[in-house]
Amino acid sequence: MEYRFTLIPGDGIGPEVTAATREVLRAAGLRIEWEIHDAGQVAVEQTGSPLPDAVLDSIRRNRIALKGPVTTPVGKGFSSVNVGLRKALNLYACLRPVRSLPGVASPWRDVDLVIIRENTEGLYSGLEHVVAPGVAVAVKIITREASRAIARFAFEHAKAEGRHRVTIAHKASVMRLGDGLFIDTVREVAADYPFIVTDAVEVDNVALQLAQDPSAFDVLLLENLFGDIVSDLGAGLVGGLGLVPGANIGDTAAVFEAVHGSAPDIAGKGRANPIALMLSAAMMLHHIGERRQATRIRESIATVLAAGRTLTPDLGGSASTMDVAAAIADALPRT
Ligand code: NAI
Ligand code: MG
Repeated sequence: MEYRFTLIPGDGIGPEVTAATREVLRAAGLRIEWEIHDAGQVAVEQTGSPLPDAVLDSIRRNRIALKGPVTTPVGKGFSSVNVGLRKALNLYACLRPVRSLPGVASPWRDVDLVIIRENTEGLYSGLEHVVAPGVAVAVKIITREASRAIARFAFEHAKAEGRHRVTIAHKASVMRLGDGLFIDTVREVAADYPFIVTDAVEVDNVALQLAQDPSAFDVLLLENLFGDIVSDLGAGLVGGLGLVPGANIGDTAAVFEAVHGSAPDIAGKGRANPIALMLSAAMMLHHIGERRQATRIRESIATVLAAGRTLTPDLGGSASTMDVAAAIADALPRT
């Protein structure tokens, strides 16, 4: 085997979309040995913990993981697995390219946007307490250090990808200190990238503009909560959650996963669209330098979508998750 990566099948549709994605990677000729670890609901049932140490150790060792979505038990005293994973491995940058794909009915065409979300603090710092009966406080943390790290990531990404503008989406009119610090820190880093235009727009106005004309933005840089919300909005612009990939990247490890969750409403039925995770796997290949293979997989996905014959129900078809995997494996361009 050429590579050894961690695989987290996850909950709900996770095992289905990860199996489909592995099938395409195998068909492309990638020799990957998967170290398979459970996290989420399945892990709670087996080990009592939603995020066992073995998962973190495996990712630390392999440095790369492909992850299905996990269900975080709500209100049972467990904190979010995703938040825990991102914090434990300091996967501070969440990268979510939002691109139109051929043959997909969607509100917009030619969308080509990058969402970069700070992944370790903000309102998702997980610090909440009840200060008096009927009064809960959720703490939003913004630090110069984390803001600087995500800003550096955003400008380096923009530079590498030939993008010209980075827009900070914020709410500094209300959260003057926190979001104010975020903006000031990003602007300091921006000074090192004079060839990239940097601007700041209030996040509610960003939502409006995205709905009206997504070409208004190039790279959007957001704190954690805003990034989560705007990512799903972005998915809506290009045809839904079944199509939008993502990556959680740190200095020593990276975890690739789709934007969508475990979709309990369709789990176990073979109806899940595996393309979002396959595109996440293509990001993984790009990240490790297998750029030609990443391009092959993206091209094959585009071919199958454009043909419109093998589509899952979310895209108006009746194909199963594994039908889509087989079609994409078949359509891989020759090497
Ligand atoms: P969701 O993304 O799982 O589902 C929202 C809607 O989109 C559902 O109607 C679902 O059927 C549909 N959908 C999502 N992915 C799809 C796909 N690949 N193909 C076809 N349809 C798809 O969001 P929801 O329902 O809010 O969350 C369900 C669970 O997932 C929760 O426990 C949540 O905490 C977890 N979650 C986990 C994430 C992760 O592990 N990265 C991210 C988001 C949510
Ligand atoms: Mg989300």
